[in-house]
Amino acid sequence: MTAAVPTTVSIALDQERSYDILIGSALLDAPSSWQGLPSAAVAVIVTNVTVAPLYLERLKRQLAPVYGRVDAVILPDGEAHKDWDSLNTIFDHLLAKACDRKTVLFALGGGVIGDMTGFAAAVYMRGVPFVQVPTTLLSQVDSSVGGKTAINHPLGKNMIGAFYQPQRVIADLDTLDTLPPRELSAGLAEIIKYGPIADAAFLGWLEANIDALLARDKTALAYAVRRSCEIKADVVGQDEREQGLRAILNFGHTFGHAIETGLGYGEWLHGEGVGCGMVMASDLSVRLGLMPPEFLPRMKILIERAGLPVVGPKLGVSRYMELMRVDKKAEGGAIRFVVIEALGTASMRPAPDDLVAQVIEAHTA
Ligand code: NAD
Ligand code: GLY
Repeated sequence: MTAAVPTTVSIALDQERSYDILIGSALLDAPSSWQGLPSAAVAVIVTNVTVAPLYLERLKRQLAPVYGRVDAVILPDGEAHKDWDSLNTIFDHLLAKACDRKTVLFALGGGVIGDMTGFAAAVYMRGVPFVQVPTTLLSQVDSSVGGKTAINHPLGKNMIGAFYQPQRVIADLDTLDTLPPRELSAGLAEIIKYGPIADAAFLGWLEANIDALLARDKTALAYAVRRSCEIKADVVGQDEREQGLRAILNFGHTFGHAIETGLGYGEWLHGEGVGCGMVMASDLSVRLGLMPPEFLPRMKILIERAGLPVVGPKLGVSRYMELMRVDKKAEGGAIRFVVIEALGTASMRPAPDDLVAQVIEAHTA
């Protein structure tokens, strides 16, 4: 199969850390996707038990002519395994196989594999190059881009990690053909967030095209992935280490992370937490007087049409508060929320506890 020329979105950081995101069909099998990466004696593909049978051999075949040896580390699947044990499995392999500091890691899978491989690359021998090969919609539009890497801690999501940029992101849209519908919806959550925070017209486009995206229309998917990556690249290019602006990418995440952590990792998908969290954060934006009342149903309808939950679990207001205080945006114990100021513009601010409590009561059952 020949790959059509991929769309390239560039992420502009200081010179040697800038990189390209390639988006298109048949990229996995296109030799050009893998040319021009750092040279090394060994490439190590990190993947999991679900993705390996689908794509590992194809990636190995492409990397074999480029690297002297291509190894694979196959981890257990799931958010519950985004932990020290999995990370150590990667290090065990790298050390047992005497992988040197030029070794290139390839993250083949969704956000869990991407975040863990990136973290392993950041700290193995104080840093080796890595390449993101995202195979879920969520990882193609968000987690593979921007260099946030992490594992979870039982007390808080993504709490142990590092900023570390990949050499390249290769997003083959054809890998989405095998994605379960629930995972497709989870990816749509992270796409939807880009509308209210950065691009009102994109929100309108999503409302008009959500059914096409659910039907996996390749043209619609290609546009949604590209636009999402453009917005994320622009934000990360301005604020790589989240000193301010980058926090807007966490719209819905404060509530969503509380749901994920509160229920135990893996019960709700990350994107499901974000979907429901965006309903809550939209309501908070309305209750703070920033957005008109019709903004909440507008967001809720789109999120529901994307196949995402819009009602959170009844963990209780005090438990939500406790969980949200462990959020990385919290400062001095005060929770800070990403809110929408106007369609396409977001900010981060604290909110009175009574308003937050009303939001939680209104959207949990
Ligand atoms: P995931 O990595 O768990 O993948 C979802 C499921 O799909 C898994 O079971 C996986 O094995 C399977 N899968 C992957 N590709 C497949 C394919 N092509 N066909 C069939 N099955 C496939 O979850 P995710 O939604 O991709 O990522 C969520 C993670 O990303 C969370 O841990 C979240 O914290 C993280 N995240 C990180 C960032 C960041 O900036 N680093 C941003 C957003 C989310
Ligand atoms: N997903 C949020 C960020 O990358 O900053």
